[in-house]
Amino acid sequence: MKLTYLGHSAFKIVTNNGITILIDPYVDKNPLAPIKAKHLQADYIVLTHAHGDHLGDAFSIANMNNTVFICVSELASYVAKKGYKVHAMQIGGAFTYDFGKLRLTMALHGSMTPDGLYGGLAAGVILEVDGVTIYHCGDTGIFGDMKMIGEMFKINYLLVPIGGNYTMDIDDAVLAVKMITPDIAIPMHYNTFPAIIANPEEFVKKLEAEGLLGMVMQPGEEM
Ligand code: NI
Ligand code: MN
Repeated sequence: MKLTYLGHSAFKIVTNNGITILIDPYVDKNPLAPIKAKHLQADYIVLTHAHGDHLGDAFSIANMNNTVFICVSELASYVAKKGYKVHAMQIGGAFTYDFGKLRLTMALHGSMTPDGLYGGLAAGVILEVDGVTIYHCGDTGIFGDMKMIGEMFKINYLLVPIGGNYTMDIDDAVLAVKMITPDIAIPMHYNTFPAIIANPEEFVKKLEAEGLLGMVMQPGEEM
């Protein structure tokens, strides 16, 4: 499994058997993104919610014949009306795909499409791919059930928003990591806009002070 950070909350996962999954592919309007949409392709596009900085370039990247969108059913209806293939889910539900198991989790956030339609509940996502468990929190404020998620899953990589204003800030994200207890926490959703300026190294230092491990991925970096 290869995980690549595409800036903001966008990640690319390529499985050992060559399946490409994009999460929240917002790249063309993000000057920090390492790649343009025209150079991306995906077998699956996972959307945590409908906001423009998450739906992003999904429609221009997706191939109507092959790409399957995975998201909550209200947003899936919107995507299906545009002519794309969808697999609708809801929070708390899990499904085993050809790449592995995927579950939607709660996220404390809103969701509206760029043209003003209700996008259903915002979500986080837990992916179990090639024996690795990744929890992408989506956009969310801190919530107490993160402790339960940490007890239900052994999270290897936690992708956690730190930018504040729309989501958790650094201090909240440190508390979230304490509850979820992943092997490694990777910050996201910061520095893309003036309202979400945050220093990811400060997040990692504050984690270290708590005996927790954080790692900053630069846009374009893969592991
Ligand atoms: Ni949002
Ligand atoms: Mn956002």
